[in-house]
Amino acid sequence: MLKVINVVGARPNFMKVAPIVAAMTKRPDTFLPLVVHTGQHYDSAMSDSFFRDLDLPQPDTHLGVGSGSHAVQTAAVMERFEPVVLREKPDWVLVVGDVNSTIACALVCVKLGLKVAHVEAGLRSRDRTMPEEINRLLTDQIADLLFTPSHDADENLIAEGIPRERIRFVGNVMIDSLQKNLEVARALATREQLGLKGIDYALLTLHRPSNVDLRESFERILAALEVIASRLPIVFPVHPRTRKTIAELGLSDRVESIKNLRLIEPLGYLDFLNLSSSARLVLTDSGGIQEETTALGIPCLTLRENTERPITVEMGTNTIVGTDTTKIIAAASASLNGSAKKVIQQPPLWDGRTSERILDALEHYR
Ligand code: UD1
Repeated sequence: MLKVINVVGARPNFMKVAPIVAAMTKRPDTFLPLVVHTGQHYDSAMSDSFFRDLDLPQPDTHLGVGSGSHAVQTAAVMERFEPVVLREKPDWVLVVGDVNSTIACALVCVKLGLKVAHVEAGLRSRDRTMPEEINRLLTDQIADLLFTPSHDADENLIAEGIPRERIRFVGNVMIDSLQKNLEVARALATREQLGLKGIDYALLTLHRPSNVDLRESFERILAALEVIASRLPIVFPVHPRTRKTIAELGLSDRVESIKNLRLIEPLGYLDFLNLSSSARLVLTDSGGIQEETTALGIPCLTLRENTERPITVEMGTNTIVGTDTTKIIAAASASLNGSAKKVIQQPPLWDGRTSERILDALEHYR
């Protein structure tokens, strides 16, 4: 029997851990899964609703760390996670993605000689000003088993000197959640409730500090949104960080004056999938949404200068447009006019069976 602590902390973790825990529950002779929530995200809309939507069991332990500077948040997770692993003595600790909770828990375990597996290993933007890039680099250096979503990730790890035997190419676990929930999500009334049924609309998410904490970049993006919104409504579920900076930067009036830009509260997993799966266009600075739009075949414009997920550009629907106003408008027009690229392939092993491959690897690890 393998006792596995599955760590979740922030919104993009839940849809990665849910299918893994569900698969472990179906192999009760082999796996005893526990869920530890660090509490990095704590608002109902950023956390609780995802447990409900994804059928993720309530956490066995909640560390309640909340927000803080990177150092404060990372340190608080480490301090509170250490006694949990000392008490539980797991065979494996499984961490996912690239948030502060990911590196904090991995670091605690490696110092205690506990085995750590990292899901979504090897992704690199090569932009070390992104906190996530530091979290990814460090977690991959110390984890025992590295589960990669694409071959570019394998190559990144090899180039960093990680031995091949620590790397397992398993595919993208987020697509397990997407495939499982797509039908249910599509049947919801989210679009009707927002008056979007049967009309073209764009969907926008923004939360990267480099976009929303800096007035210049936020204003460049807003200037583009003013033009795009004259062609079709833009629905904008607003991350709490972004809501705060709109007010702090004094941008509330400008944002509210964009007639067709509809600010709404952050959405749960299923409601968001309902909107993304029928959008004419998605504009985002998220990592996961670049992948989901590729899986759904929906055009995506990434409002960043780089991506750690190049396969979504090479094979999927993603275009990296940065934050230059003219470039965003041009890319949106190309997409809306139908002149953007059309050939789309599903990346290898984005097939809904990644969690099973992760369990097989854990079970047969020697
Ligand atoms: C974090 C992750 C980021 C991920 C994002 C998804 C890190 C370094 N960043 O960024 O990789 O893409 O989550 O959302 O781990 N807040 C609330 N309620 C919440 C959570 C946050 O109001 O439930 C507000 C707080 O003001 C907080 C701010 O959002 O200070 C930022 O939260 P934080 O967890 O530090 O980073 P995110 O920007 O959410």
